[in-house]
Amino acid sequence: MAVTLTLTAVACGDDEAPNPNPPREQTETSTSGLSTGFKEVCATCHGEEGRGKGRYPSIPGNKDESAFIAIVRSGRGDMPATDASRISDAELRSDYAWLTTKRR
Ligand code: HEC
Repeated sequence: MAVTLTLTAVACGDDEAPNPNPPREQTETSTSGLSTGFKEVCATCHGEEGRGKGRYPSIPGNKDESAFIAIVRSGRGDMPATDASRISDAELRSDYAWLTTKRR
């Protein structure tokens, strides 16, 4: 019984040990924070940081992540559909995160 308690205590201690060096957020993006796909496809109309210009709206607007990706895949009005060979879902998720949390 005493042995079991000791082992349990050790296991709990390991689980709760704080990591002194948490890994940095890893994203496949260049210095501005947006993906290569974004720069090649989206920036032409929506601008380098997606702020929009002229008749092109600032993005992501009020869209959530899945709506954002859906609009890219199906296109909308004068915006052409863009498939995964030009910008991947992973890039879109990363770009969405940057547009909603990092751009100011
Ligand atoms: C040829 C120009 C063009 C390109 C390239 C383009 N867009 Fe658009 N985008 C538009 C236009 C125009 C609209 C407005 C469509 C409408 O509602 O009629 C729009 C709308 C959007 C919206 C909806 C905004 C809102 O608030 O309703 C999102 C999100 C969006 N674009 C994201 C992207 C992303 C991400 C890319 C790159 C994969 C991209 N767009 C590429 C022209 C473009």
